[in-house]
Amino acid sequence: MPVTTADLAAWKQRRERFVMLTAYDALTARVLDEAGVPLLLVGDSLGNNVLGYDTTIPVTMEESLIFTAAVARGARNAMVVGDLPFGSYQASAAEAVRNATRLVKVGANAVKLEGGRRSAKAVGRMTQAGIPVMGHLGFTPQSANAFGRRVVRGRGEEGDELLADALALQEAGCFAIVLEAIPAELGTRITDAVEVPTIGIGAGPGCDGQVLVITDLLGLTPDPTPRFVKRYADLRSTIAEAATRFAKDVAEGHYPGPEHQYH
Ligand code: KIV
Repeated sequence: MPVTTADLAAWKQRRERFVMLTAYDALTARVLDEAGVPLLLVGDSLGNNVLGYDTTIPVTMEESLIFTAAVARGARNAMVVGDLPFGSYQASAAEAVRNATRLVKVGANAVKLEGGRRSAKAVGRMTQAGIPVMGHLGFTPQSANAFGRRVVRGRGEEGDELLADALALQEAGCFAIVLEAIPAELGTRITDAVEVPTIGIGAGPGCDGQVLVITDLLGLTPDPTPRFVKRYADLRSTIAEAATRFAKDVAEGHYPGPEHQYH
């Protein structure tokens, strides 16, 4: 059964913890979907992880559409969340609706955008248009130029600001809120204060769900990775070793063998 926003609300009510993972291609999306991952985020982290940009800021709407469509083609039951890239929703709520609609038309079941009270109007207009919206607070990578080198957000009085942002996103209609790189105590405080599920990434164990970037989880991203990353595999070594063995086999005449040849 396809995952819906009602499922997330029920999981929060039942205090059932859940996960979200990023995905950028159809093949990986299918694997994750079959593994039972309920939420696939086509994050604008595709900029760093697939396209080789230094930040998410250069990602365009067209790029977001291509990768969202690919993931949607691979997913069966998982909810596919398309990310609104930098510049696609800030100018006006009308533009946000227009671009969110484009993501839905290529297969997204929901969209995500960054920012709290400053994004509330756009969230309201998108939800009125029938598009489920996920919020994103804390360290929001599209604001890297504004935040500078300070990654952890919400220490001290800024915590109250983030709580006010979370309440504003809920009021505007967000069905879930990602909390990134904030103190664990603040993650719990916001999670307890809002009725919608929170999904943490570096926001402590008190959040309703947890999200990781797939390349971090699989051990593909080079060091240094943020403190919150836990690697569940070491694909960097696996890929390097496979490529080296292939080259050795060819050099030594072991590949292709008789079983790999056509006659
Ligand atoms: O783009 C992304 O991958 C994200 C996650 C870090 C939540 O926004």
